[in-house]
Formats: sequence, C-alpha cells, structure tokens
Amino acid sequence: MVSTAALIQGASRGLGLQFCKTLLSRQPALSIIATCRTPGQAQELQDLKSEPLLAGRLHILGVDVKNEAQIQEAAEYAEKHFGQLDLLVNCAGILHPSGRGETSLKDLNLQGLQETCTTNAFGPLLMGKHFGKLLTKGGGSVGVKSTDAKQQHAGVLVNISAKVGSTTDNALGGWYSYRMSKCALNMATKNLSIELGRGKNKVICVSLHPGTVDTALSRPYHKNVKNLFSVEQSVSKLLTVIDSLTVEDSGKFFTYDKELLPF
Ligand SMILES: NC(=O)c1ccc[n+]([C@@H]2O[C@H](COP(=O)([O-])OP(=O)(O)OC[C@H]3O[C@@H](n4cnc5c(N)ncnc54)[C@H](OP(=O)(O)O)[C@@H]3O)[C@@H](O)[C@H]2O)c1
Repeated sequence: MVSTAALIQGASRGLGLQFCKTLLSRQPALSIIATCRTPGQAQELQDLKSEPLLAGRLHILGVDVKNEAQIQEAAEYAEKHFGQLDLLVNCAGILHPSGRGETSLKDLNLQGLQETCTTNAFGPLLMGKHFGKLLTKGGGSVGVKSTDAKQQHAGVLVNISAKVGSTTDNALGGWYSYRMSKCALNMATKNLSIELGRGKNKVICVSLHPGTVDTALSRPYHKNVKNLFSVEQSVSKLLTVIDSLTVEDSGKFFTYDKELLPF
C-alpha cells in the first residue's frame, strides 16, 4: 500500500491530463489512477505512463462516466491497490454532444439534455457513491498535511464545475443543458459534503470553476475571452485552492482564486 493516491476522472486530455502531469511532477510519493473512456486512444496519457522516472506511479483505467459498472470496477481496483484515496477530481465534461451550447429553446433536444446531464452531473455523483468509502479512509491533502487537529480531514472530492452553473450569476440565459448539468453537479457536491462529512473522517467536497481554459470544450467561444488560461495555469491555481481547503469549505463552490461563488 502506498501512502498517497489520487484519482483523476476524465484524464485523456484538457484539464484532467494536466492534473495528472502536474501532480506527478510535484509529488514524488503520489500515485495516480487516471480514468478515461478510451485508454487506447489517450496517447498523451499513455506517453506519460511510459516515462521511466514515473516508475509505475500512473495507473490508467477505462471508465466512461456514463457507465456505472465501469465506475464500480475502478473503485474495486483502487481498493485493492491503495486501500484509500486522498483526492478524487471529477474532470470529464461536455458542453453538449453537438459541441455548441443551445442559444434558444428551439435548439433543445432530449438526447442532448440527457447526455450532458449524465456526463456532467450523474457520472460524478456515481463516482462519489463508489469512491466515498475510500475517501473517508484518505489521509487528506495531497499537498502539505496540516498538523492542526482542527484542520485535519479525510480525502478531498473535487467536482470541476463552471461559473455558468450558478443560478444567481445567470444573466444571459442560453446553454440550457450545460448550465443545468453544472447546477445539478453543484447540488451533488452539497449533498456529498453532507453525507461524507458525517462522523470522524470528514471528506471535503467542493465544486471548482477552472476559469475559461484553452481546451477543446470552450474553443468555439475563445474569441472574446480576455483572461484565457492555459491548462497549466488553471491546474496550478486549482491545486493551490485544493491545498488550502478545510472542513469549513466543504459543500461550497469556488473559483480558481478561491472566490466564493453563489449557487
Ligand atoms: N475549458 C473551459 O473553458 C472550462 C470552463 C469551465 C469549466 N470547464 C470544465 O472543466 C472540465 C474539463 O474540461 P476541459 O476543458 O478539460 O475539456 P476537454 O479538453 O474537452 O476534455 C473533456 C474531457 O472529458 C472527457 N469525457 C467526456 N465525456 C466523457 C465520458 N462520458 N466519460 C469519461 N470521460 C469523458 C473527455 O474524454 P475523451 O477524450 O474520451 O473525449 C476529455 O478527457 C469539464 O468538466 C468542463 O465542464 C471547462
């Protein structure tokens, strides 16, 4: 059994892949389970695994987050190899199966709504269901562990959300599927924080907004973005937030700068 283990869900590219790269380079004692739906096609992730210096610290598993049986198998693998989990990051997400957010009601269809909500909200919640127990056994931060008894906690569960999932912040409308899916994800975060926050080993559960980041997901909308982050910048900021989390932060929704966002 190793002392520190993280799971990055949705690790084939974008923010998930960068979480793997940054965490592996900054923490020599950390092992990562990276899940993605088609490991054979996740070339950059496979290249990372082949790096001699990593010496078996990266485990790649096939998980389509819409497939609960695969989520359960991944949890069994984690239980067998690590017996606990310090950090779970639910990264996978889609804007919409078409790649474009709906601009008005006429663009809506049931399949798009269902697929977006299943990928962005129901999948991450099922990850919480299957990995919750392992997180309660986790030792807390993957960064600097607090020696202050009041600040000690079990594992950390991060749902990568989006500011457009804030009902309070919604002034423009549109993007029905994506906004609703992230709003539902935030509710899942809150519920998880309550259920996994009971008892002695409290799991911290948060939703984090990564900023607008230079990835495929938001690429059609980059033209007018003033503050576009690279994946390296966004993940570095998100890890600073994750390292700073305390039990009091659980159930909340923060930006990459740890500004509190309203639900
Ligand atoms: N980029 C932004 O500006 C931005 C802003 C706010 C929030 N976010 C959030 O950040 C997270 C990461 O997005 P990104 O920007 O890194 O986008 P990205 O580069 O498009 O990556 C999306 C990832 O999700 C995976 N994925 C999609 N459906 C999946 C499924 N059913 N099962 C497993 N994995 C699946 C993709 O895997 P495949 O390779 O298999 O397709 C890919 O790894 C998302 O939750 C997104 O909503 C992004």
